[in-house]
Amino acid sequence: MLRTHTCGELRLEDVGKEVVLAGWLQRSRDLGGMTFIDLRDRYGLTQLAFNMETNATLCEQARGLGREYVLQVRGAVAERSNKNPKMPTGDIEIIVSEIVVLNPAQTPPFTIEENTDGGDELRMKYRYLDIRRNSVRRNLELRHKMAVETRNYLSDQGFLEVETPVLIKSTPEGARDFLVPSRIHEGQFYALPQSPQTFKQLLMVAGIDRYFQIVKCFRDEDLRADRQPEFTQIDCEMSFVTRDDVLEAFEGLGKHLFKKVKGIDNISFDRISYADAMKYYGSDKPDTRFGMRFVDLNALAQNKGFQVFDDAELVVGINAEGCADYTRKQLDELTDWVRRPQIGAKGLVYVKYNADGSFKSSVDKFFDAAQLAGWAEAFGARPGDLMLILAGETNATQKALGELRLEMGKRLGLRDPNTFACLWVVEFPLLEWDEEAQRFFAMHHPFTSPLPEDAALLSTDPGKVRANAYDMVINGVEIGGGSIRIFDWTLQEKMFEVLGFSPEEAQNQFGFLLNAFRYGAPPHGGIAFGFDRWCALFGGSDSIRDFIAFPKNNAARDVMIDSPSPVDVKQLDELHLRLKGL
Ligand code: AMO
Repeated sequence: MLRTHTCGELRLEDVGKEVVLAGWLQRSRDLGGMTFIDLRDRYGLTQLAFNMETNATLCEQARGLGREYVLQVRGAVAERSNKNPKMPTGDIEIIVSEIVVLNPAQTPPFTIEENTDGGDELRMKYRYLDIRRNSVRRNLELRHKMAVETRNYLSDQGFLEVETPVLIKSTPEGARDFLVPSRIHEGQFYALPQSPQTFKQLLMVAGIDRYFQIVKCFRDEDLRADRQPEFTQIDCEMSFVTRDDVLEAFEGLGKHLFKKVKGIDNISFDRISYADAMKYYGSDKPDTRFGMRFVDLNALAQNKGFQVFDDAELVVGINAEGCADYTRKQLDELTDWVRRPQIGAKGLVYVKYNADGSFKSSVDKFFDAAQLAGWAEAFGARPGDLMLILAGETNATQKALGELRLEMGKRLGLRDPNTFACLWVVEFPLLEWDEEAQRFFAMHHPFTSPLPEDAALLSTDPGKVRANAYDMVINGVEIGGGSIRIFDWTLQEKMFEVLGFSPEEAQNQFGFLLNAFRYGAPPHGGIAFGFDRWCALFGGSDSIRDFIAFPKNNAARDVMIDSPSPVDVKQLDELHLRLKGL
């Protein structure tokens, strides 16, 4: 080894020891008679001291070293006269007797500090330097711990980790596939898996019974802070289980991770139906760290002569506690906020329940104080509160109010990243109607079973069928989703039919699964968690990129290795991809 200790390790009790350290030069300070260098490695920083009086040559040598040089130093551990309580090694320093420059370094394009001067794009281009920063390294450590604890827990519960292939077959459902052209089979393509869904179901047919895999998935979709084209799932499947068995098993995983990774052991999971989540929170992934539940005002506010409410399918609002003192300017700004195209509301009605018990609203012309007091009662509002109301078509209004609720929660400091509210959203609709395509799509995926009590509706009113599907939601983030699967091949065929597949198309795309189901498929169900999202949530960040060693940017590029990039014509020819005549 080129070192006896790490840069995070030495303490007062080591004083007097002769040690060898290796690491990167974080910073040096030249104080005339003394020169100090902070030497950094993965484990921390240690101060190196050079004394002009006792060893001028060495001191001169130290002064000539630049940032990020890779050094090996030998020296004696000494107690510091000027201790730094902020550093774990702040009680000691190394009186250096010898330096070896293992490798000089060019000046890095940004400072390797917590508050770096490097912008996002630059840090991504030099991600290997970015990872030297504590916060990024800590995120990777958290990710590692999450993976280890996931494996420990699931393995203890009898789950078997099985790898499934990465070169698979393109299927039309879900997001867009990434395709890989075949050299050997001209004109044919592999697809990268959007998830190992069909393989894990085949493993259940194969009798594996409890499967998991921490696995890369690939989706060619538009990127956001919580989406990457390649991301990682904790993918799981179980046989001979009901929905509640699955929810219990993975509440167990959730509790284990909270305990081992966050040190929190009083986590509980609520359950809410999709219908109620939309009704009370305007979202299928409600952030339940705070209340501010929706209050339906149709009965109280309609047919009183205010056209906007009367014409609306839904009049619904939230109560923002303690916000009655919002100024005109703040209310105008909030109105503009809900009118932005991303939110899409036409306007915002407010009712101030003033501290003196009086009301002031934007609809005073239409509603008197007694009526507004009735609303306040419905909201459970108290003097000092502000009621915010939207009206319009049900789905759009719920969604817009859901966004406003989140925004108000943020402004009121109710979304503390160190508080955790865990939830199962259950009973999702099985199908979604797509206006453009004029057909149903599976809301989760085509292998999700209907709730048994709704199965008969599949032939008569498919849009009404609820799925035996569930999402795990923590703090408003969809951490995972899954379902109890269809295991009866006739029902699976029926499902493909409802989704508009002809029997031939179903056979072409999914024949392997339909055939397998004919050989004794057990009842089964499972779930997949967004591993990157879970790490980001535990790390207190909205962006999963911070928890991926080498992520893609918002344009799906890896700016470090410059990918995607053009390839040689010869490669295109081998892959039969060049248009004839070019
Ligand atoms: P689903 O498509 O809901 O289900 O994905 C499961 C979880 O994966 C995460 N996730 C993503 N994370 C980062 N970037 C992305 N582009 C991305 N897309 C999804 C989310 C999501 O909840 N096979 C089914 C699961 C099952 O039924 O068992 C599936 O993939 O956190």
